Amino acid sequence: MGLRPLDPSKWLEFDEHCEEELSLKAQLIESDYDAVVATNPEGDEASKELLRELKSFLHDYYPGRSTETVAGEHPVVQASRLAQEDFCVLVKEDTWRLRAACVCFPSRWDLASKIGTTLDDIHSPVPLYDQELARPTNAFFDRLKPDKSFWRLNWTLLDSPVLHQRVEARETPRGDLSQWFFRVERQTLRQLPITRATVFTIRTYVTSASSLRENDDEFVPALLHALDTAPASVQRYKGWTGVAARLRDEL
Ligand code: HEM
Repeated sequence: MGLRPLDPSKWLEFDEHCEEELSLKAQLIESDYDAVVATNPEGDEASKELLRELKSFLHDYYPGRSTETVAGEHPVVQASRLAQEDFCVLVKEDTWRLRAACVCFPSRWDLASKIGTTLDDIHSPVPLYDQELARPTNAFFDRLKPDKSFWRLNWTLLDSPVLHQRVEARETPRGDLSQWFFRVERQTLRQLPITRATVFTIRTYVTSASSLRENDDEFVPALLHALDTAPASVQRYKGWTGVAARLRDEL
């Protein structure tokens, strides 16, 4: 699962792209609400608690940042406007279900089709999830405690730096390394102390593959190793099929 303990002061991260990303979020919420927000009433209480936790986090660690919200909006949207992260709220019922989310920067998946569904259903397109990750992930959610949070990373290679990647964009990166972007998701998982819902955050970082290559001699060998060793089903899912061979030709 690749989970590591999270220092509470590092729950969310802010950088120089903050204002630009917050205004991009505002535009998407305005123009494409149903694509970036999905909520069920079962997630309302937990979303309110998320917003309170987020405001208290900002107060403690980023006292200069505004905690003002737009009155009348769903609290998961209010939360999303305060940070660069996307937010998902999962509630334990018969099993863990996604009950509220504001995801402005999805990495090629469709939020509307996942709302109300279980961890297993959310991950149904992911190869090997069923066999290798479903059981430990559900058990991890059951064991998670408010005083100990975790984080993990996911990454892929795309031929576009656009943060909001619709599901239709799932395809192999075109062109060569100079046109590719390394897209990393920093995800955190924490349990809210009152509702005991789980908050899953996704923070997306995009860097051009060329600049990584220029600044780090290890980048290309590490990338080739990761592409070569991924199982064929994962390569197909991620759009990596044939990419390592193309990269070797180019080099
Ligand atoms: C310990 C927790 C979790 C683990 C180990 C995990 C693992 C994974 C993995 C391996 C993938 C494949 C992505 C890739 O390799 O590029 C994936 C995709 C995904 N995960 Fe998770 N995940 C976790 C929690 C969650 C949660 C809480 C959500 C709630 C929204 C979520 C939503 C998704 C979605 C939407 C995808 C894309 C699925 C698609 O292609 O339709 N994950 N996850």
